[in-house]
Amino acid sequence: MEEMTPTAADIFNAAVAAPAIGAAWETGALDDLRELRRLDAEEFAHAHELEPGATLAMFRALASVGVVERHSSTIRPGPSFDEVYRTRSFFHWLTQGSGELFRRMPAVLREKNRVGQFYERDAVAISYACRDINAAYFDPAFWRAMDGLDTTFTTVADLGCGSGERLMQIVDRHRDVRAVGIDIASATLDYAAERFAAAGLPHRATFVEADVRIIEPRPEYRAVELLTCFMMGHDFWPETNCIASLQGLRRAFPNVRKFLLGDTARTDGIADADLPVFTLGFEVGHALMGVYLPTLREWDAVFERAGWHRVRTYDVEMPADSVIFELEPA
Ligand SMILES: C[S@@+](CC[C@H](N)C(=O)[O-])C[C@H]1O[C@@H](n2cnc3c(N)ncnc32)[C@H](O)[C@@H]1O
Repeated sequence: MEEMTPTAADIFNAAVAAPAIGAAWETGALDDLRELRRLDAEEFAHAHELEPGATLAMFRALASVGVVERHSSTIRPGPSFDEVYRTRSFFHWLTQGSGELFRRMPAVLREKNRVGQFYERDAVAISYACRDINAAYFDPAFWRAMDGLDTTFTTVADLGCGSGERLMQIVDRHRDVRAVGIDIASATLDYAAERFAAAGLPHRATFVEADVRIIEPRPEYRAVELLTCFMMGHDFWPETNCIASLQGLRRAFPNVRKFLLGDTARTDGIADADLPVFTLGFEVGHALMGVYLPTLREWDAVFERAGWHRVRTYDVEMPADSVIFELEPA
């Protein structure tokens, strides 16, 4: 079949629809449409304390690319609805979480501006999207990996813990396990600690603000037997830094027995016009930020040199080139 070249209007409308997908998810419109198959834009706006004109505009943006069908204020799922529903958190990551980075692309490209903290992203919005990306894609492989561990553990530390969701799930399933959440962003740590408190579990978790690339030993790390790290392993790179960081983890967590490292790698060899959903935003976004993204092959080449042995690799369905490495001290 001949490929259709998108028109400027297609491209423009898709750009407007992308934040509308994130907004429709966050306001509950996508879930309502999935369950009820129909909603009235005005009633939806009133029920959720949204401005009716702006809410209808959001649905128009979605209708322009076939995510919904709109007749006046009646909204139904459109031909792209199911696929967009499955991938909603990628749009949210792009527009709500990373929107400011992409908006400032002209300034971010300039060499002279690339010093200090030269871009902004919304850490809380990113952890909101990541929770969903985890639930849909990484968690099935994560629980397969957990079930496959030939060891028990009493304390787990999650590096770059974000919203604390992974730790929450682990302490929920393993009643005697204690959790340590480590993140560089104090806002997400506050959020994670609040969630543990709200669930009546504040005694089960400790949260530490630290840069895990240059982590220093602490008394509370001595008990840690299982390390997990999801969707931030690329921050350890480039290679020399990654090897030093992975060695640093061995020193900071002297009693660790397993390390589950889940991340999305840089794809290798997919033509620009054939990239699947998320990959382009992830790879362009990290290039803008100056964060090196390793390929799966590059990951494989560092473990032994950094004091870790790769026991096995679990594939994650999406995003492209996402995996969970099961590692143990070499
Ligand atoms: C994409 S989010 C993933 C959050 C969580 N691991 C998950 O799977 O949902 C990346 C997290 O890593 C944190 N992070 C990034 N670089 C870090 C570093 N050098 N040290 C500690 N945390 C870091 C960010 O603040 C953010 O919470």
